[in-house]
Amino acid sequence: MKIAVVKETLQDEARVALIPALVAKLVAEGHEVAVESGAGDAAQFADEAYAEAGATITADGLRQADLTVSVQPLVTDQIWALQSGSATISFLPPAQSLERVSNLRDCGITAFSLELVPRISRAQSMDALSSQSLVAGYRCGIVAAGLLRRFLPLNMTAAGTVPPAEVVVLGAGVAGLQAIATTRRLGAVVKAYDVRAAAAEEIRSMGAQAITLELESLEGSGGYAREMTEDRADRQRELLAPFIAAADALITTAAVPGRTAPLLVTAAMVEQMKPGSVVVDLAAETGGNVEGSVPGKVVAIGGAKVWGAANVPSQMPQPASRLLAQNIVNLIALMTDGTALSPDFDDEIVAGCCVTHGGEVRHQPTQELLGSSAAKETSP
Ligand SMILES: NC(=O)c1ccc[n+]([C@@H]2O[C@H](COP(=O)([O-])OP(=O)(O)OC[C@H]3O[C@@H](n4cnc5c(N)ncnc54)[C@H](O)[C@@H]3O)[C@@H](O)[C@H]2O)c1
Repeated sequence: MKIAVVKETLQDEARVALIPALVAKLVAEGHEVAVESGAGDAAQFADEAYAEAGATITADGLRQADLTVSVQPLVTDQIWALQSGSATISFLPPAQSLERVSNLRDCGITAFSLELVPRISRAQSMDALSSQSLVAGYRCGIVAAGLLRRFLPLNMTAAGTVPPAEVVVLGAGVAGLQAIATTRRLGAVVKAYDVRAAAAEEIRSMGAQAITLELESLEGSGGYAREMTEDRADRQRELLAPFIAAADALITTAAVPGRTAPLLVTAAMVEQMKPGSVVVDLAAETGGNVEGSVPGKVVAIGGAKVWGAANVPSQMPQPASRLLAQNIVNLIALMTDGTALSPDFDDEIVAGCCVTHGGEVRHQPTQELLGSSAAKETSP
């Protein structure tokens, strides 16, 4: 099979979908790999390293490819350059990519979305949301430590004792647990809260204190959280306010699949924090857990610095690409018979992450969204 690796076009996307070590593995298995020149530059993987791994370095590898891999969804020009009947693997949030999805469908492309890989045990090695959340959570911990102008650990010195910093983490999924682990390793006292009751045990296993509130837990399906009602959100904010006011650093990572991020912290709550406090909002791009956070910027609210996340995994492009590329290669292996791409649509993982195939939108919710937007366009 001919596999093409795209040079990302989105500004500030520094990751690459395949790394040289995994290109070598694919080539050894009998695949041909073409890498767009410069694709790995921003992640410190040079063209020469890909060439040494057996790839062809090209200016337009997409036209001949049976499978095109990228981090970000392909843009219109790239989609139209693909050969009909070929496949793509990339992040592709279908509900936010309706025009792209209809282009992929119309071009006869079989498009697989990394966001849609079912989060079942068998798919763990293909779970790019988890691998990239792990990178993001670590980075959030490091950013908080870097912005905070104080020690994280307790320091007992001849000149006196410096108490440890107190960090509060809200949302203890993959990213939140990694932020807890990172700030704990640096010696901070960490407290964390999540709406899922099961998260409390995981928080404790990371050496943090689980904040328990007199509120019902909000378990949804598949291990995810459910959305809060406005009343519950108000009560949660009220109960969390004293913990946030006492924290030196607050890291928020809460999300509910398919929804804008829940607002956990108002600007008034941030204003109650001590001067010099730090807030890191990983959800800034999806609506924000913290009122007033701005993606890609540090803003001042009261005496606190509020850091808004923007494509955080891309801020550590080499390890993020390494993990992502392994997820993609594992997905390719699942769909390959010998050296040919032959996705088995009876497989739960393959069917689950397929967005378009054979000129049709396979992902039911996206098909419905496209149907309703087409109906709106044709109505008088
Ligand atoms: N392969 C697998 O089986 C697999 C892989 C990854 C995750 N999971 C499950 O999914 C869980 C969450 O994964 P994720 O990190 O991708 O989730 P996510 O990114 O959707 O959400 C992050 C966290 O925010 C929490 N949250 C949502 N609303 C909140 C609120 N109002 N206040 C506080 N916290 C709130 C969620 O409970 C979650 O823990 C994991 O902990 C795990 O149980 C399973």
